[in-house]
Amino acid sequence: MTKLTVIGCGYLGAVHAACMAQLGHEVVGVDVDEPKVELLASGRTPFFEPGFEEVLQSAIGSGRLSFTSDMAAARGATVHFVCVGTPQKRNEYAADLAYVDAAVAALAPHLAPGGLVVGKSTVPVGTARRLADAITEVTPGALLAWNPEFLREGLAVQDTLHPDRLVYGLPAGADGEQARKMLDEVYATPLADGVPLVVTDYATAELVKASANSFLATKISFINAMAEVCEASGADVVQLADAIGHDGRIGRRFLNAGLGFGGGCLPKDIRAFMARAGELGADQALAFLREIDSINMRRRVRMVDLAREVCGGSIVGRRIAVLGLAFKPNSDDIRDSPALNVAAQMQLQGASVVVTDPQAVENAQRKWPDLRFAATAEEAATGADLVLLLTEWDQYRSLDPAAFGVVVAQRRMLDGRNALDPAAWRAAGWTYRALGRP
Ligand code: UGA
Repeated sequence: MTKLTVIGCGYLGAVHAACMAQLGHEVVGVDVDEPKVELLASGRTPFFEPGFEEVLQSAIGSGRLSFTSDMAAARGATVHFVCVGTPQKRNEYAADLAYVDAAVAALAPHLAPGGLVVGKSTVPVGTARRLADAITEVTPGALLAWNPEFLREGLAVQDTLHPDRLVYGLPAGADGEQARKMLDEVYATPLADGVPLVVTDYATAELVKASANSFLATKISFINAMAEVCEASGADVVQLADAIGHDGRIGRRFLNAGLGFGGGCLPKDIRAFMARAGELGADQALAFLREIDSINMRRRVRMVDLAREVCGGSIVGRRIAVLGLAFKPNSDDIRDSPALNVAAQMQLQGASVVVTDPQAVENAQRKWPDLRFAATAEEAATGADLVLLLTEWDQYRSLDPAAFGVVVAQRRMLDGRNALDPAAWRAAGWTYRALGRP
């Protein structure tokens, strides 16, 4: 058992704290946001994440997990995870490191020699080296490791307890050996379960995270580029993805064409990566990511154009129903959500848009109060001239086209996620259109 603090109790930190307590460690979650601290301490979650509330409550019940806004709590622990956010800077591609810098500055005076700071936030390469120097300046003998996180929203608990791999970015020499020992103890359970471990230097560990997200973004934009060509040539991108996905070297996962990627990670991470490469004089190496970003953003525009086309040339005054607002299913996260972006664009262009989502309505309402919100798909679609499926929640995938057709004014479905069976919808009298399909 190790005594841990987890600094920053957002998506990553809250889940990490609860899961580490679940593994048997004694954990204090630290966050500057008092209401969030109180909420978590009472066993309630600030966001929707399947399975998380159960783990949180069980960890609190075990007496091994608590939350505070007082950084002095770090004095009781030996390993300190830094899990604060690194959002995109306003009007710039680069990541904003203000929260990371503030967290480390607040933590450093409470460290003991031999104490280990473990960075989990997604940061530009070079950050760990700089932070290690800042920490040892305040507390000589304190250590730093970089241990990037690969959890997916919607699968956060599973990804934290059973990750695909663990990466330790360590300093050289005896410090590195000491840090590794401490991390091995923290992750004893997943390591015993056979989770692969890759030990690297700081820079490589930082780059592993940036390149993993860039690869995923590239895979999605690749298939969406194929969707554009399919649209131009009358081919079917879903069949194409199935066919190339059988090649084990390519693989079918993350090859779903549609509205593209959003969320709090992929879009800002590829931009921050490009910005950092520019600073390092390696901008040419990542020039392709600009194209990945453009392909992705074009899908949103194309979706609105398709809506206009299906409505006969104009969406002004049309009643349009949007199913899905979260950036992906099983999440209430609307950060850079393609679905919300398309809904808002159509509203701004004069359509009368009614939106719904199983979990993200409250968050979307705060951001776009001008949209009209409905509790269910049926309510949103009542009287609609056009329905758009933009986030592929299971309940939308399994809609019955015949029964659903009764509530709408016009049976027109635009499937922004290639989640429905075109034949079944057409058989029920719907005009069915999707991105990248005839
Ligand atoms: C992503 C990575 O997948 C995680 O490994 C990483 O840890 C995380 O970012 C992070 O940096 O913290 P997440 O943002 O939860 O995780 O979402 P993804 O599951 O990667 O989905 C991203 C977006 O891509 C969603 O909008 C999704 O709808 C879209 N997507 C995904 C597609 O358009 N097509 C696909 O085939 C797959």
